Amino acid sequence: LDNGLALTPPMGWLSWERFRCNLDCENDPHNCISEDLYKQMADRIVADGYKDAGYEYVCVDDCWLAPTRDANGRLQPDPNRFPSGMKALADYIHSKGLKFGIYEDFGVKTCAGYPGSEYYLELDAQTFADWGVDLLKFDGCGANAADFAYGYPAMTFYLNKTGRPILYSCEWPGHAHNTASYSAVRKYCNTWRNYIDINDNWQSLVQILVFYGKDQHNFSAYAGPGGWNDPDQLCIGDFALSLDQERTHMGMWAIFAAPLLMSNDLRNIRKVSRDLLLNKRLIAVNQDPLGIQGKLVYNKTVIRIWTKPITPTGSYAIAFVNFDGGGRPTHLTLKCSDVGLTNAEGYDVTDTFTGDAVGTYKPGDEFDVFVNPTGIIMFTAIPLQTN
Ligand code: DGJ
Repeated sequence: LDNGLALTPPMGWLSWERFRCNLDCENDPHNCISEDLYKQMADRIVADGYKDAGYEYVCVDDCWLAPTRDANGRLQPDPNRFPSGMKALADYIHSKGLKFGIYEDFGVKTCAGYPGSEYYLELDAQTFADWGVDLLKFDGCGANAADFAYGYPAMTFYLNKTGRPILYSCEWPGHAHNTASYSAVRKYCNTWRNYIDINDNWQSLVQILVFYGKDQHNFSAYAGPGGWNDPDQLCIGDFALSLDQERTHMGMWAIFAAPLLMSNDLRNIRKVSRDLLLNKRLIAVNQDPLGIQGKLVYNKTVIRIWTKPITPTGSYAIAFVNFDGGGRPTHLTLKCSDVGLTNAEGYDVTDTFTGDAVGTYKPGDEFDVFVNPTGIIMFTAIPLQTN
């Protein structure tokens, strides 16, 4: 969507994967969906360096709403969990120099059963603008998927009509995978989910990596400034992933030019996970101004290789992911030219995770890597010029 937003993949924090629809503020006050949760995350984003690294959207997901609209048909938050109201929450988040994201659903009800926007698109768009919303995640439950192709563009129209810049994060094509026209999705949305929900475990990550590797109907080609494929939230710093798996997660979301929306508890996160989320070189690959989504270029062994063209011209980020989960690291040697590195003068190669020099490689030279089980090695290759 060419509305001047999301010129690079959006970065921020979103509550869903980690906090779900926790309504139990009585027994679990620190983890329930409430204004305090979002305020505390905003505080941490600023205090712990995430804002400086580029994370800026603090996003509410499902379960913020009261069970009914107000007397004027307007959406209203749950009065017990959001006693100050959404405008006040937006103001708080803005006062920290951050942006405020909200969630709604294009159908009659949200996935969790709260009032949806069907029949209220214009009023809801205006309500969000009045509150100071900067991003809308628009879900697709409680609607007929056949209606997405006019429902999502209708909301684009009403968001635009408010005059407020609101990043539009669609669930279209959504879980329906690839039945939609990606050129239409790209025209009307800033980001779009095209696969099932992520869960905090390695199997879920593998499913997404495989789906993105298949790149059905060449959906990667639609990514670029203003519009991005969204493989879902980052589960880094949560419960189930090992450090190697978290590195694979972060590295591949960089390769995919994916939105970087952390879903974790920033009040309580391992230092290694935090350092990974703050890794400047990985973020630079993700945010590279060319905005090209990486592609799977080698699929012959348990190690699969993706490359993503980045700046300066002719450079690549290269990811070697080991899909084998057991035993010792897997060894692979492969000619640079076999993964498309064909510049005759060669490349200056560094380790993307550490910034350490790896060496100078010509197209006929071999990469020689040992990749940890379920782990990743990532290189940045910059072409050498003749003087
Ligand atoms: C489905 C979406 O894919 C999730 O990310 C989340 O927003 C839930 N709905 C909320 O109900």
